[in-house]
Amino acid sequence: MTRILITGALGQIGTEISALLIEKYGKKNVIISDMREPSKNGISENCRKLDVTDGAVLEKVVNEEGITDIFHLAAILSATGERNPELAYMVNSVGTFNILKVSVKTGINKVIIPSSIAVYGPSSPKKDTPVISVTRPDSIYGITKVDNELLSSYFRKKFGLDVRGIRFPGLLSYKTLPTAGTTDYAVDMIMKASLGEDYTCYLSPDRTLPMMYMPDALEALMKLYNADKSRLRYSTEYNISAFAFSPKQLENELKRIFPGFKVSYVPDYRDEIASGWPESLDCSDAVKDWDFKPRFSLHEMVDDMSRNFRLLNTKH
Ligand code: NAD
Ligand code: SER
Repeated sequence: MTRILITGALGQIGTEISALLIEKYGKKNVIISDMREPSKNGISENCRKLDVTDGAVLEKVVNEEGITDIFHLAAILSATGERNPELAYMVNSVGTFNILKVSVKTGINKVIIPSSIAVYGPSSPKKDTPVISVTRPDSIYGITKVDNELLSSYFRKKFGLDVRGIRFPGLLSYKTLPTAGTTDYAVDMIMKASLGEDYTCYLSPDRTLPMMYMPDALEALMKLYNADKSRLRYSTEYNISAFAFSPKQLENELKRIFPGFKVSYVPDYRDEIASGWPESLDCSDAVKDWDFKPRFSLHEMVDDMSRNFRLLNTKH
């Protein structure tokens, strides 16, 4: 029987993948966990407060709950990480090492660990960046993500652990708002335009980054989770994205629906983080190995998100 532990389950991806996994495997087989108290967020069943930096407690939870698979989503993202590098190192590097170590010790079947475009850095190719490229990031978040990828490959080779993951681009969603990353501006901009407000952007107008809508990210995670292991040439390094745009292009896209929308640009330290990331990715390995295929275009994503932000606003 499959029993799944989700770490960082209250985050942007965690809240949405939890719902999908519960739908597929049943409420009693999906254990929601986070550093924050899950029950305080309206989740009442099968939830545990779990700090992934505490390896002993992690092992206890995995044993007590009879966990077979782990979706490890607990992390400190790029913007928060740059403000607190020690915390980023502890959660991302030490926490992920704990997940890998406990997984081997307790005989976990499959571990999912998302990576990020942040593994790339100023010396990586900027356009159509392939999986195997120079990965020398200069943000602490990126450094811990490279560390996670290398550790995952090592555990796969040395201990035969089935560790899978995706280098996600910036993810756009309206159900749980992102709060800790550099690519969050795009969600903020769509939300402000939808609510009839102006927006001040912390990235330069021409800072192009690869992006993707959450429904496609969730479908990709599920596809990779269920993929035939013998087809997977990589561990957590698969590149995916659906489209790429700059803040100025997103502004123009939004003006199509909201002609009076106004954006001003005041770049800060997050623009410096994003300056080392690719503008577009080569996703052909994910297509070849596990049939990656995004559905939403930039147009469709903007239409759907702005409609949902307006609906949410009228409900409140
Ligand atoms: P998020 O910041 O929305 O959520 C992370 C969750 O981890 C939060 O709920 C937080 O409370 C929890 N957490 C923090 N420290 C913890 C600890 N010590 N123990 C347990 N939980 C802890 O992040 P997300 O966007 O859901 O990201 C999930 C994963 O996907 C991360 O590995 C991230 O690097 C990766 N990723 C996300 C994006 C994106 O755009 N959202 C892009 C690329 C990669
Ligand atoms: N969306 C993430 C961030 O901006 C990329 O990993 O931190």
